Amino acid sequence: MPILISYLLGSISFSYLAGKLLKGIDIRNHGSGNAGATNTLRVLGVGPGVTVLLLDALKGVIAVMLGSWLGDGSSLLLVLCGVAVIFGHNWPIFFGFRGGKGIATTIGVMITLAFLPVLIAIIVAILIIAITRYVSLGSLVLTALLPILIWSMGRPTEIIVLSLAMFVFAWYRHRSNIVKLLKGQENKLGAKK
Ligand code: G3P
Repeated sequence: MPILISYLLGSISFSYLAGKLLKGIDIRNHGSGNAGATNTLRVLGVGPGVTVLLLDALKGVIAVMLGSWLGDGSSLLLVLCGVAVIFGHNWPIFFGFRGGKGIATTIGVMITLAFLPVLIAIIVAILIIAITRYVSLGSLVLTALLPILIWSMGRPTEIIVLSLAMFVFAWYRHRSNIVKLLKGQENKLGAKK
């Protein structure tokens, strides 16, 4: 049950809702076409972008907590709730299975399970974004760092495996960003579309 609820929670696309409520648009037809915080910032502005970032991350935090509140609280259940909420965010049942890339929700899940390694990865990602202005590059580095940091800081095997799954999810969802980064055509933060 907590796994199903986590998937449904993940399927609430705050960027889609922000687009509809604030401008009457489908965010997936604007900017990068991604239903996520970065594209919300790009299309709707800083306030909505930051709000969506926080709400998407909160989905991840709540999903992990659901594993404790509604289930047995075992590491395996928390991990499965984490996978389910990101799955819902990326492939939302309420919005035609066209969602986001899962980074904010990944941060919410992982910071609940492994605070210090995730904090370090977030700081590195913020520095990369500040220097390059490529949010996608920051996201890719963040998700690649997570398994390394979590493993090197001696966290449980389930959490290491979860971070590896999230790394695969995130890089898969960033395929088009990777191509654009390699071609030097990726959108920079703050650049005009
Ligand atoms: O978290 C998503 C970000 O890494 C890239 O978003 O809209 O530039 O594809 P976007």
